[in-house]
Amino acid sequence: MTIRKICIVGASGKLGQYMIEHALERGYEVVGVCREESVGKLDRFADRITIVPGFTNDPEVIRRAVEGCDGVLTVLAPWGIQQYASGTAQAVLDHAPKGARLVFSCGWHITRDGQDVYSWKLRAIVKVFGFIARLTRFAELDDQVEACRRIFESDTRWTVVRGSNLEEGESQGLPVWSRHVGDPILASNLTRRIDFALFMVAALEDDALVQEAPAIVGCQTASALEHASGAMTEAA
Ligand SMILES: NC(=O)c1ccc[n+]([C@@H]2O[C@H](COP(=O)([O-])OP(=O)(O)OC[C@H]3O[C@@H](n4cnc5c(N)ncnc54)[C@H](OP(=O)(O)O)[C@@H]3O)[C@@H](O)[C@H]2O)c1
Repeated sequence: MTIRKICIVGASGKLGQYMIEHALERGYEVVGVCREESVGKLDRFADRITIVPGFTNDPEVIRRAVEGCDGVLTVLAPWGIQQYASGTAQAVLDHAPKGARLVFSCGWHITRDGQDVYSWKLRAIVKVFGFIARLTRFAELDDQVEACRRIFESDTRWTVVRGSNLEEGESQGLPVWSRHVGDPILASNLTRRIDFALFMVAALEDDALVQEAPAIVGCQTASALEHASGAMTEAA
């Protein structure tokens, strides 16, 4: 499918804004969804994109925003305790046009098949952060897990991109990926946020990623360079 028009759900965040930049560079028509209070964060794009203000888990907001789109890029954030991530994923799954490419973001902690091997450090961070976040009603990691469970079960043309630790900085190029956390190529556990966004946007036109949950890492990291010959890239 040729991608002409896309929707970015969660457009005002850091990842969302990088995705807007990449999408505009590719000449896509862009619709962005963000909370009303965050519309101002998109001022620099205001004359180049259509903004639909509203909660991303509001099915009516999503239905209007994704109309006529060939692809939907969704930032799955576990914020709050009102099933924000699963509500957002469900709204996109329910309302995106049939056959559209759906690309979702999340972290390495999400597992599709239980075959990921996590370091004790990552397990501890997820456990401690998850506990404190739920206690303070700041975020609900389990809801991001639920969101991904629904995506994995869907028969849509989805990709769930699992991000490593992130850092800011100039683009280094398209990250490499692997199916399972624990694979040596991912050991560096670091990706530039701008390149996470690049991978999300590039996935729209990469059919090899349909119904895959790639775990990504920066292409210039030590582990990526060391294992480059076995790397999965968009051509894999
Ligand atoms: N941060 C990391 O180290 C890391 C690592 C791996 C993967 N990831 C994944 O990367 C994606 C983006 O993460 P990010 O850290 O870069 O964040 P981000 O892009 O800044 O995005 C955060 C998103 O959450 C929304 N948001 C913030 N507070 C909210 C609230 N209380 N209620 C509803 N929505 C709220 C923001 O919207 P507003 O603009 O309206 O606030 C924005 O769309 C996520 O899918 C995350 O799982 C992150």
